Amino acid sequence: MTSPLAHFNGQLLPLDQIRISPLDRGFIFGDGVYEVVPVYGGTMLRGREHFERLQRSMDEIQLANPHSVDEWLAISRELLAHHPGDQALYIQVTRGVPPKRDHVIPKGLAPTVFMMSNSMSTPSREAVENGVACVTARDFRWEKCHVKSTSLLGNVLARQMSADVGATETILFRDGQLTEASSSNVFVVKGGRVLAVPQDNLILLGITYQLLEQLAKEGHVNLEVRPVSEQEVREADEVWLSSSTKEVLAVTTIDGRPVGAGKPGALFRRMHQLYQDYKAKLRQRGAVAA
Ligand code: PDD
Repeated sequence: MTSPLAHFNGQLLPLDQIRISPLDRGFIFGDGVYEVVPVYGGTMLRGREHFERLQRSMDEIQLANPHSVDEWLAISRELLAHHPGDQALYIQVTRGVPPKRDHVIPKGLAPTVFMMSNSMSTPSREAVENGVACVTARDFRWEKCHVKSTSLLGNVLARQMSADVGATETILFRDGQLTEASSSNVFVVKGGRVLAVPQDNLILLGITYQLLEQLAKEGHVNLEVRPVSEQEVREADEVWLSSSTKEVLAVTTIDGRPVGAGKPGALFRRMHQLYQDYKAKLRQRGAVAA
């Protein structure tokens, strides 16, 4: 099988021919940022918003962006032309390759840009219809979770805690308050109202989170943004996960105990449908534009 095409510093190359220096600060320090953009039938879902978030992440780590949002979108389309169908487009920018290892941020380095695209499988019917299991843990990550950094060891170790028991995600609490899960945002439903945690430095503000917020508003679903306690999560009627690859998924057990009635709730089904309708429109637009 030939290696799929990927983007590396301005060139399209077979993935297996790309070579990155061991001195790259992405390798040595995890000094880089990334994005994952879901693509449906060739059309990026909220591509512009993903590249705007990339810009915010780069600003936070003082990394000069080598491209404008429009350039990023053009480069992405160029790569996606070689990857038809539903895809997860991955973009990573690191601080580049200095002459030697030094914590201090070197001046004038050219960043390393890497992009690849993999076929994306959306959650299975079974997961959508029955919901998924989650475990919980203390949020032991740093205080800049709003930066979509490639330094993901905290998230990786948190995710492994759920993987070890065959669960889908690890929901995190900091000082008794819900933050997010290891690679998704978390929503809670109580008494017919959807609760979403504040958009601060303790979570990654998901593009899916923001889309769900918009869809809730348009669909007249009551959604409130405010801090959510651990106890509220444990006593919730419904709990959902959201991310670019999970879309929106119901959590039906937490630490082995059922959430609400132990099956996906009515508000989940409504939001899931609104999300699927949004995707269907996106596919149509893509088909018209092609
Ligand atoms: N993860 N929170 C964390 C810690 C995440 O890693 C992600 C996404 C999200 C949801 O963000 P969005 O809705 O923009 O996908 C929240 C991606 C998919 C990943 O790392 O693979």
